[in-house]
Amino acid sequence: MAVDLLLGLQWGDEGKGKIVDVLTNNYDIIARFQGGPNAGHTLEFDGIKHVLHTIPSGIFHKNAINVVGNGVVIDPVIFKKELDNLQKFNLDIHSKLLISRKAHLILPTHRLLDAASEASKGKAKIGSTLKGIGPTYMDKTGRNGIRVGDLEMSDWEEKYRSLADKHESMIAYYDVQLDYDLKDLEDDFFEAVEELKKLTFIDSEEYLYQAQKDGKKILAEGAQGSLLDIDFGTYPYVTSSNTTAAGACTGLGVAPNQIGEVFGIFKAYATRVGSGPFPTELFDADGETMGRVGNEFGATTGRPRRCGWLDLVALKYAVQVNGVTALMMMKGDVLSGFEQLKVCTSYNYKGDIITHLPYNIDPENITPIYTEMEGWAQDLTKMDSPDQFPKNLNDYIHFLEKELGVPIKIVSVGPDRTQTIHR
Ligand code: IMP
Repeated sequence: MAVDLLLGLQWGDEGKGKIVDVLTNNYDIIARFQGGPNAGHTLEFDGIKHVLHTIPSGIFHKNAINVVGNGVVIDPVIFKKELDNLQKFNLDIHSKLLISRKAHLILPTHRLLDAASEASKGKAKIGSTLKGIGPTYMDKTGRNGIRVGDLEMSDWEEKYRSLADKHESMIAYYDVQLDYDLKDLEDDFFEAVEELKKLTFIDSEEYLYQAQKDGKKILAEGAQGSLLDIDFGTYPYVTSSNTTAAGACTGLGVAPNQIGEVFGIFKAYATRVGSGPFPTELFDADGETMGRVGNEFGATTGRPRRCGWLDLVALKYAVQVNGVTALMMMKGDVLSGFEQLKVCTSYNYKGDIITHLPYNIDPENITPIYTEMEGWAQDLTKMDSPDQFPKNLNDYIHFLEKELGVPIKIVSVGPDRTQTIHR
């Protein structure tokens, strides 16, 4: 049985959590393949809003098994908080949530190193969520990391000490002012590690292989978005993992020929949080309206998100790199009330008109070229069938499908599970 994939096509915050939650009834296993607590996956149902950071978005469904894959980085302290928040729902966490032994651990000193590195960069800072993501993946590729499976070994605390000591000397090297009490941070860390050790650790690649052989349906859940991919994103303003389809293979141990559907999630407009180029960014009343109506504040950091028109050059690139087979358009309702909509269909790149994403999309090199379309005034949030869509929304959808060459199968018209229209 093939493994389906769900990932974000922009700069994250597309609404992946909601769609995983909506689709979970069709799957036996939801497996998160990369990222860590930099992610904030928001789910809303029965009038309650939930934000998950590391735990897969299928956790609220009775029958779904949730796997945290080897490509994920786990901060035990944040993980414990997520578990504490779930306590009131009486979920059978021990059998529903399985953690890969090969997932790497975020240490308190990784978070400090992230803060020191960002502070030392000044204006050139990445705008990191400061969750220790970059330093943890650096230790992974540098072959110094501590993995979940190490917690089952007798010498893991020695390994911890030697890595934390090394980090302290690296923090000193940055020569920036950081106020912290490592002893306090470590008390929280070791307490949280004890909670983590109560969960079920697995050899996840073997588990998922057997599950496929047994005909189980698996959905791989990505975090962040394709334009934040370490290889294909707007480097260096990216995260430190492969957020694109290939990341699911390395982050779960699923063979490429086992990937089935690739569901690409995008917002009907564009947002970005943190630094980095954003060709269609708006600095006017339209951008302000998108931010306000769309409630565009980071689910992890609370930072306001930058807003702009949909960029089809970038979106096409993401569709291509991921091999997207079906699209899902989120937050269509936020565009209600705009008289005119703009969609970027090409760039003026240093005087040439281009329709592909070039190496450098800094504002001094790029002017977006827009196609204008009529907006719609109708409130979409109460609609429950595509037959109710206003003509101009249908025109917008058809235009995107034609440009992208992939059908839009779901249109989301609000944050709740029920506000999801299948086409
Ligand atoms: P880091 O992954 O925390 O180091 O952040 C690197 C960049 O990715 C920053 O611009 C962050 O704002 C952005 N980023 C990381 N995770 C997310 C996410 O889940 N949604 C949106 N942006 C993210």
